[in-house]
Amino acid sequence: MRVLIVGCGYVGLPLGTELVRQGHEVFGLRRSAEGSETLVAAGIKPLTGDITQPSDLQSLPGPFEWVVNTVSSTKGGAEEYKEVYLQGTRNLVDWLAGSSIQKYVYTSSTSVYGQTDNSQVKESSSTEPKSQTSQVLVETERFLLDAFQARRFPTIILRAAGIYGPDRGHLFLQYLKNEARIAGKGERIINMIHRDDLVGMIIAALKNGRAGEVYNAVDDEPVTQIHFFRWLSETLGKHMPPFATEEENSQRKRGLTNKKVSNRKVKMELGYAFQYPTFRQGYTAEIQRLDQAGQLNTEPEPR
Ligand SMILES: NC(=O)c1ccc[n+]([C@@H]2O[C@H](COP(=O)([O-])OP(=O)(O)OC[C@H]3O[C@@H](n4cnc5c(N)ncnc54)[C@H](OP(=O)(O)O)[C@@H]3O)[C@@H](O)[C@H]2O)c1
Repeated sequence: MRVLIVGCGYVGLPLGTELVRQGHEVFGLRRSAEGSETLVAAGIKPLTGDITQPSDLQSLPGPFEWVVNTVSSTKGGAEEYKEVYLQGTRNLVDWLAGSSIQKYVYTSSTSVYGQTDNSQVKESSSTEPKSQTSQVLVETERFLLDAFQARRFPTIILRAAGIYGPDRGHLFLQYLKNEARIAGKGERIINMIHRDDLVGMIIAALKNGRAGEVYNAVDDEPVTQIHFFRWLSETLGKHMPPFATEEENSQRKRGLTNKKVSNRKVKMELGYAFQYPTFRQGYTAEIQRLDQAGQLNTEPEPR
């Protein structure tokens, strides 16, 4: 297949690498040519362009049979989200509709689920998040699903949980730096996905996903923050992080969700088998990698 990866970053680059390995012709789009040699080394053809600029898209060397949008907003505000996710997606659909495109996969986020009651959420659960940035993602999803309904635009949405893997994972990295704090009583649920499983799921969706469908991209084990830290603490032989102060807690509370995201659909419909079914396997691999590279700092925080 002729494949375009829009946003060739943390997820897009290994995705492209794997698709090249499987024999596809892969193009990777970024805003700047900086770092193009990494793409070339992976066998990916680098393209430059900004999806917020329709004229940039017109000059790309189409057509493409598979397109994956893994663009991420570098800045966090709602205006930036509207520009990059919503307008960027509109521009891509306008440009691609009517071409020979067979599948379009978009990596949305489990932050579209605004539930705060610890409940299990699946793809049909309501998506009414409080946070403005997540509302933009909901709007982007709606736009894509409408494009499927109205024009059979072959969209598939993957709602990714917190992505971790080599050099990524917010709480883990904070913990290693002795900067982690347990929020509240540590009961908030964390939903995660290893980068390589997200890559695997994108490929499964390209091959076997049904257009017009939404799939949660999350592993088998939603875990409370305190259990996650306890596992890290036992695995690394390092203290538990301290509890956050009341002030820190009140700052963090706004917009926080609390839910267990189900991966049943991706397993049942795409037959996806996880490489890292839980954070235990995924972080064991990462800890071993860091250890072998001499980069694992398990120095405890001075008390
Ligand atoms: N991180 C998480 O935990 C998480 C959770 C849920 C969902 N997601 C989603 O997962 C996907 C993959 O994230 P990631 O971590 O791989 O992101 P990333 O490493 O930040 O990569 C994003 C890529 O998008 C490119 N890009 C940004 N703006 C662009 C634009 N306007 N036009 C063209 N290219 C643009 C960037 O390249 P340049 O800067 O060179 O342009 C970069 O290559 C994203 O869709 C993200 O929203 C992430």
